Amino acid sequence: MIIDRSSVVLLTGASSGIGASLAVMCGARGATVVLVARRADRLATVADEVRAAGGTPVVIVADVSSEADCERVVRTTIEQAGTVDVLVNNAGRGNCASVEDTTTEQLQSIMSLNVNALFWLTGRVLPIMKARNSGSIITVASVAGKMGFPFNAAYVAAKHAAVGFTAGLRAELMATNIHATVVCPDGVTTEWGTATEGSPIGDLFMKGIRASKRYAQQLERPLPPLKRMISADDAASVILSAIEAGRSNDVYTHDGSYEQMLAVAADRMAQEDAMAPLYLGMIEAYQELTPQRT
Ligand SMILES: NC(=O)c1ccc[n+]([C@@H]2O[C@H](COP(=O)([O-])OP(=O)(O)OC[C@H]3O[C@@H](n4cnc5c(N)ncnc54)[C@H](OP(=O)(O)O)[C@@H]3O)[C@@H](O)[C@H]2O)c1
Repeated sequence: MIIDRSSVVLLTGASSGIGASLAVMCGARGATVVLVARRADRLATVADEVRAAGGTPVVIVADVSSEADCERVVRTTIEQAGTVDVLVNNAGRGNCASVEDTTTEQLQSIMSLNVNALFWLTGRVLPIMKARNSGSIITVASVAGKMGFPFNAAYVAAKHAAVGFTAGLRAELMATNIHATVVCPDGVTTEWGTATEGSPIGDLFMKGIRASKRYAQQLERPLPPLKRMISADDAASVILSAIEAGRSNDVYTHDGSYEQMLAVAADRMAQEDAMAPLYLGMIEAYQELTPQRT
């Protein structure tokens, strides 16, 4: 689906990072971009950028981990923009806790945001798209939706669910002209590393990566296959292309991710062994960051 002046893009997590970049790119195509997140001040800034780029922003301050807010987001979008051509389920947050340290409250919060919101928003947008038999639903998952990382099992489980959600949805839409696509980024320089539940997951990864070099030497293994971080603009460009591509395979934002996930599917143990220096480094880092709980 080509994004142009006639398009209405409903975009969650629009106040920073990948979502803010994508909002401005859609704005540059002249689209109406419905910007959804909790921070009103940050949404106002992104709205100015969308307007400056040539688009029409609509701001809805909402917490999509609440079903009532999701209902209000879709109702307000219809009232103010008339329809939804593209839904981008982008809002997401990680957690930083071992399985035994993950509280019920944290688990519910991570699942509500990263999984339940997909159903609450998509379920309400689909009747609109089905009525005219066109539309695109993009869900931003993660490579953590395909493989594991330590100390954020709630997030890893949630992103695996986001991948599964899209697979189920795409099958349901087989007889329609509505496309469902999942995008799996690896590291992107955004606020994700600090906007974590628990201590910042970014710190855990950085300390783990540093320690991984020592573990690789000790284990006489190659360094784990880590990707270079990319910018939010680069990730958003891939998402924009995915929207315009229509029906597609799972989409990766980083070179090498597709091949890595094929390898995970073929032999998960071998891939976990390849990641062992990083995982051991993160175990050391977690003990350092949360000494009272380990
Ligand atoms: N950065 C990475 O390395 C990376 C890698 C793989 C996948 N991802 C995924 O990419 C997506 C975008 O993340 P990002 O990297 O751009 O991080 P980010 O800069 O932290 O952006 C996250 C966005 O989600 C919004 N959000 C968080 N909780 C929300 C809630 N309860 N209700 C509504 N909006 C909420 C945030 O806005 P407010 O705080 O204003 O609500 C923000 O706009 C996420 O799904 C993330 O899991 C990121």
